[in-house]
Amino acid sequence: MNGNTFLKVIAIDGPAGSGKSTVAKMVAEKMNMRYLDTGAMYRVVTFYLIKTGFFEGGAIDIHSALIGIKLDFENDRIFLNGKDVSEEIRTPMVDTKVSYVAKQEEVRAFLTRMQREIAERGNVVIEGRDIGTVVVPEAPLKIFLTASIKERARRRVAQLRSKGIEVDIEKMKREIRKRDEIDSSRSLAPLVKSKDAIEIDTTTLSIEEVVDKIVRLAKKRFKEHGRDVG
Ligand code: CDP
Repeated sequence: MNGNTFLKVIAIDGPAGSGKSTVAKMVAEKMNMRYLDTGAMYRVVTFYLIKTGFFEGGAIDIHSALIGIKLDFENDRIFLNGKDVSEEIRTPMVDTKVSYVAKQEEVRAFLTRMQREIAERGNVVIEGRDIGTVVVPEAPLKIFLTASIKERARRRVAQLRSKGIEVDIEKMKREIRKRDEIDSSRSLAPLVKSKDAIEIDTTTLSIEEVVDKIVRLAKKRFKEHGRDVG
């Protein structure tokens, strides 16, 4: 990718429960852009490893697992070897294992390559942990979403409850803290705010307020880069 080429990409990073997925999807819709959830990609790899017995000391290693994985996307749905697994990857079981999987160098190399290819086609809102820092450092707009741990745990518990899964709020706080800790302290592509990212604390903001803010910033940035996105 040439550093001088304008890439119409909005990078949205932040910790669990900061509102990335909901906000990124809505921004994409409003801006008529595509949407890519990179967390879902790490979740699919984790899901596959769980299914193949990796965590019980099964025969499969990460390298062979990655060879057996074919990912496809359709709007906000993700497909593993042709099967829609968008719901199955969002379980507490995957939550507890995903940050371990996301630390693995081979997994990051495999998924980062795929994410860059998608970014290079442009016109896409990409959300994750390392989009502004590693995957698309040249993105003209980088957002870093945060919220208090209490609010993030509350949102995640409500989200799971709507799917019929009950989780205790204190347990959720511990789980989120642990995941934040692993994600922020890993040596490869840790969760950190890119220097040129705009931080938005969403603790007391409505989804619409956050979306409007980002859409306004995006229109301004894209115009500054010589493109009128209307
Ligand atoms: O939905 P939530 O924010 O809880 O998580 P997610 O976005 O689905 O991401 C799940 C996990 O994948 C994170 O906790 C990270 O360990 C990992 N991840 C990553 O390492 N890099 C990314 N670009 C996106 C996710």
